[in-house]
Amino acid sequence: NPTSRRNPWRRAGINRVVAKSGAGGGYKVAILGAAGGIGQPLSLLIKMSPLVSSLHLYDIANIAGVTADLAHCNTPAKVAGFTGKDELAACLAGADVVVIPAGVPRKPGMTRDDLFGINAGIVRDLAEAVADHAPAALVHVITNPINSTVPIAAEVLKQKGVYDARKVFGVTTLDVVRANTFVAAAKRLPLADVDVPVVGGHAAATILPLLSKSRPKIPFTDEEVEALTRRIQNAGTEVVDAKAGDGSATLSMAYAAARFVEASLRGLDGDGEVYECAFVQCGEAVAAPELPFFACRVRLGRDGVEEVMAAELKGISDYEARALEALKPLLKKSIDKGIAFARQQP
Ligand code: NAD
Ligand code: LMR
Repeated sequence: NPTSRRNPWRRAGINRVVAKSGAGGGYKVAILGAAGGIGQPLSLLIKMSPLVSSLHLYDIANIAGVTADLAHCNTPAKVAGFTGKDELAACLAGADVVVIPAGVPRKPGMTRDDLFGINAGIVRDLAEAVADHAPAALVHVITNPINSTVPIAAEVLKQKGVYDARKVFGVTTLDVVRANTFVAAAKRLPLADVDVPVVGGHAAATILPLLSKSRPKIPFTDEEVEALTRRIQNAGTEVVDAKAGDGSATLSMAYAAARFVEASLRGLDGDGEVYECAFVQCGEAVAAPELPFFACRVRLGRDGVEEVMAAELKGISDYEARALEALKPLLKKSIDKGIAFARQQP
């Protein structure tokens, strides 16, 4: 593949949703919130994966219809539906990857943090169930505000004595997907060639695209950097406003989450060259001691995060360095809020 020679990350299968199966496959994926706007298309994309043998769908409502519908697709993954707390244990048993898109989305005028009041408790309760019934699984948190819900999930797993920092992820793939799309369009580049790392967190100014680290190496004017950075940071709001009260990104999010699931499965399957950006416990290594969680590029392997690509934060532009300093207190506040919530007595 000639692209691989130009861009080393391409060997990780960037932009590839359905991967070629390695020696293994046969993985079990559970989706919690599977009947929702993200959950349904995400379930469909995962049903198409050759790496998945079992797909468990859980929701508090409407799961029977989604399960019956999806089960008719003639792809190998076996689909089973679960609903209500009593069925959560069976849904999670034996899962290799648990994806959590359960919770409410934004409406116009809201910030992601405005969702905390409802979604924090949903993620805490689901993380407790993961700790009890799938303690070794990789956990992909989609539910917003992920700058807080990931620390909540991590804290719950810690309290249950099963936390492995390599296995808990906030899914920020959509920021990378958007950055790649917008940069390719602005610079008239083939989409498949473009790879822009996005670091920090997943809300407003905490979303920091590192345009200086784009591949291929692309020159940007200061105006282009400003405009592209703002667009990538506001892309979620762009969709929320366009949907005008009918929720937030679902289709692009399902695409992004499916890509991250596939990348994780390829890592579990022994592919040693899988790289994605995600919000993980790597902050102490890459950003600042006071930021335990941070979105950065990681190498995924048999146990989740195998390596944090901390060097990518070295040699960034002055604009990016200033933006990085500015986002740290915002991110810290959201992380601390999540940890405090998880530590309070119920
Ligand atoms: P939605 O309302 O369409 O679907 C949410 C689903 O969660 C519903 O089916 C609901 O029944 C279910 N649910 C609620 N409580 C549950 C519980 N306790 N257990 C199991 N299921 C439960 O919302 P959506 O558009 O799918 O968005 C879901 C979440 O994803 C939102 O918080 C949204 O902000 C977030 N999101 C994150 C990103 C990202 O980049 N990480 C992108 C888009 C949306
Ligand atoms: C997104 O980036 O699309 C999501 O975080 C959903 C939202 O509320 O913007």
